[in-house]
Amino acid sequence: MQDGISTNRRGLIIGATHAFTALALAGTAVAETLPKMIVTRDPNCGCCGNWVEHIKAAGFPVDVVQVNDVMPLKARLGVPEALMSCHTAEIGGYVIEGHVPAEAVKRLLIERPKAIGLAVPGMPVGSPGMEVPGQAPQSYEIAIFSADKHHMFARYRGLQQI
Ligand code: CU
Ligand code: CU
Repeated sequence: MQDGISTNRRGLIIGATHAFTALALAGTAVAETLPKMIVTRDPNCGCCGNWVEHIKAAGFPVDVVQVNDVMPLKARLGVPEALMSCHTAEIGGYVIEGHVPAEAVKRLLIERPKAIGLAVPGMPVGSPGMEVPGQAPQSYEIAIFSADKHHMFARYRGLQQI
């Protein structure tokens, strides 16, 4: 009899714990829906590190892989030569090339278009991680690309879409 009571009580306690866990998870759901980003970068390139800080500040969990030559990975992932930049990132089945704003990555993950990924070719001044004190941010295009074509996904100046 006593065993029966204690088993019931244990069941109640476990049930309450589960309910609490469910609530706690619901509270952090926004942060938990952002998938992990893997960034491959050259350790000697400072702007890549600045971009990683921008991505982390936006709430993405990030793993950084340092390699001396990022080119083989770009080729393997299908980044078109015309769109290449410094670092290359992988997230949620997409490739993110160069200084793409975190906001654009979030939009990509919500809309989930059929594409390989996004790229900001070159290194426009004022793009995230490429801020230069005393220099006005340039406007730049974010390209969305697949194996055989690319087009404009968004236009930004600094961190602002324009
Ligand atoms: Cu860079
Ligand atoms: Cu860099």
